[in-house]
Amino acid sequence: MQEELARLREAALAEVASCGAEGELEAVRVRYLGRKGLLTQAVRGLAAVAPAERPALGALVNEAKDAVEAAIAASGERLAAERLAHRLAHERIDVTLPGRRRPRGHAHPLRLIEDEIVDVFVGMGFRVAEGPEIEDDYHNFAALNFEPDHPARDAQDTLFVAPGSDLLLRTHTSPVQIRVMRAAKPPLRVVVPGTVYRRDDLDPTHSPMFQQVEGFMVDERVSFADLKGVLVHFLRRIFGPETGVRFRPSFFPFTEPSAEADIACFRCAPTGAADPACRICRGGRWLEVLGAGMIHPNVLRAVGYDPEKVQGFAFGLGTDRIAILRYGIEDLRLFYENDLRFLAQFPS
Ligand code: PHE
Repeated sequence: MQEELARLREAALAEVASCGAEGELEAVRVRYLGRKGLLTQAVRGLAAVAPAERPALGALVNEAKDAVEAAIAASGERLAAERLAHRLAHERIDVTLPGRRRPRGHAHPLRLIEDEIVDVFVGMGFRVAEGPEIEDDYHNFAALNFEPDHPARDAQDTLFVAPGSDLLLRTHTSPVQIRVMRAAKPPLRVVVPGTVYRRDDLDPTHSPMFQQVEGFMVDERVSFADLKGVLVHFLRRIFGPETGVRFRPSFFPFTEPSAEADIACFRCAPTGAADPACRICRGGRWLEVLGAGMIHPNVLRAVGYDPEKVQGFAFGLGTDRIAILRYGIEDLRLFYENDLRFLAQFPS
């Protein structure tokens, strides 16, 4: 028995010494000291020994167990220290290295212009509203006084969600006029930025998706003079205080009278001469920038207002077009292609 004990003890210590990882130590512990471990069994073996020899042998067994436990603990500490040293050596951070800069994002040029446009109107007491890009015929057309057979309703011009569907991608931001007016009462001064869709092929001046800013004001005594005052102020804030502005008669189903506003070409205007080579106006000297008019009585009636009591004006402009003019960009597609070489030139 004594020899057997000595052998077990040596074997256990040798195994502990050969362990290369903390997990292996645990296996050795279980093998020798666990409930069914070899040294644990030796204690049970004492029952078969003559009572006189038991105390001495028992002491030997305990000593062996203590020795193995101590060796496991010491090895464990050594392995843990080695592991820490290894990590410290390999995971060292060189704090003297320059930091890695995250590329800094910035607003898209269309968003910059939109913010600028909206800010001018907010400065005149307009509040911002938005509406859904998927609209129905009622908000996009019917309530805006489009005749049932108006060509804009044609699938040639409008992107419908499905053939024969009443749902469509809004062709302008004007449906938000209807939504806001149905939900609120005058006085109203509202500006509506948003994305709109038309069935156009993509080319330097057309895109099936583009941006508009709508605006409208409704109150008891709103006149065409208010429309002109607000829009001239707006255009001069965007294009410069000296900018020439003219209004031409036009037609929209939802305004009467209707007008289009032009600004004098800011490149040609100072010289006064028409320049067919002008990159901006191509000799036309005037640049169309927005549509506007007095809200049609039928529209006011459609939202439950009394046109005898309240009037309003509305306007809509193409944000892309303003951006093109402001930045002197020749190709609208640049705004939608997500080429960072282009977009990164507009730091906010
Ligand atoms: N909705 C018109 C368009 O998309 C613009 C407009 C808005 C005209 C409001 C008049 C009044 O062309």
